[in-house]
Amino acid sequence: MRRADLPAPADSAPYYLPHAGEVALFEQCHQRQLAVMLKGPTGCGKTRFVEYMAWRLQRPLVTISCHDDLSTADLVGRFLIGAAGTAWHDGPLTRAVREGAICYLDEVVEARQDTVVVLHPLTDHRRMLPIDKTGETVAAAAGFQLVVSYNPGYQRMQKDMKPSTRQRFVAFDFDFPPPEREAAIVEHEGAVTASLAHALVTLGNRLRQLRDRGLAEVPSTRLLIAAARLIAGGIAVQDACNAAIVSPLSDEPALVGAMRDLVKASFI
Ligand SMILES: Nc1ncnc2c1ncn2[C@@H]1O[C@H](COP(=O)(O)OP(=O)(O)O)[C@@H](O)[C@H]1O
Ligand SMILES: [Mg+2]
Repeated sequence: MRRADLPAPADSAPYYLPHAGEVALFEQCHQRQLAVMLKGPTGCGKTRFVEYMAWRLQRPLVTISCHDDLSTADLVGRFLIGAAGTAWHDGPLTRAVREGAICYLDEVVEARQDTVVVLHPLTDHRRMLPIDKTGETVAAAAGFQLVVSYNPGYQRMQKDMKPSTRQRFVAFDFDFPPPEREAAIVEHEGAVTASLAHALVTLGNRLRQLRDRGLAEVPSTRLLIAAARLIAGGIAVQDACNAAIVSPLSDEPALVGAMRDLVKASFI
């Protein structure tokens, strides 16, 4: 497969507001060819961070969303029958390995353990991908880097990563940004005023406290941005918050009621 098959790095920098030292740490990992694990709740900026780093490092980015049907063949490749007979087709992982791309496996714990083991020889000094079906062993090109993400709160115990897999990664802990920074993100991404962005973040943080009262998934930065965009588009503030923040989070009448009350109290 040729380089043209992979998406080129973005022309302009994806918008990313750094938290602490994660940009420098990621750059070191990239230089030292260390695999990276991004831990943190849904919608807190993990994917955006990888997009930004791929741009900074000028590497193509291959993203694979993991699910429990994902097979080794989906990652590595398979023989396909075409007009000219049977031919091998590289999967996205193999393409990334050959071309020196950043390969991002989103929600890696959703993939079965027997699928994930194919990553092991890529994450140690060998940096190679054995392809059983063809007998080929592909050495990773210089810029290749493996990045995985997962949401630690979300997974059931049986869906955790094996220690033998986890120990192959440098882990980055992500969380929702502090209010000032989250407001700047909502203002930029939602195209709303600073004061509205602040109000949405304050509401978000109040709603996050409902975790103690049984709210399993708390509002992410992504949901606050969705509400902001609706408001920027002309939807009334409370309607936007109820549709974009409250309803997606719960079906439980008591929790929905409590959240709607907080929305009302925040925007009178
Ligand atoms: N630090 C950040 N800088 C810029 N945008 C951010 C940041 N954190 C979150 N976002 C915004 O929140 C949205 C959701 O983040 P995303 O990276 O998709 O979350 P995750 O991959 O953790 O689920 C992004 O599309 C982006 O608009
Ligand atoms: Mg993501």
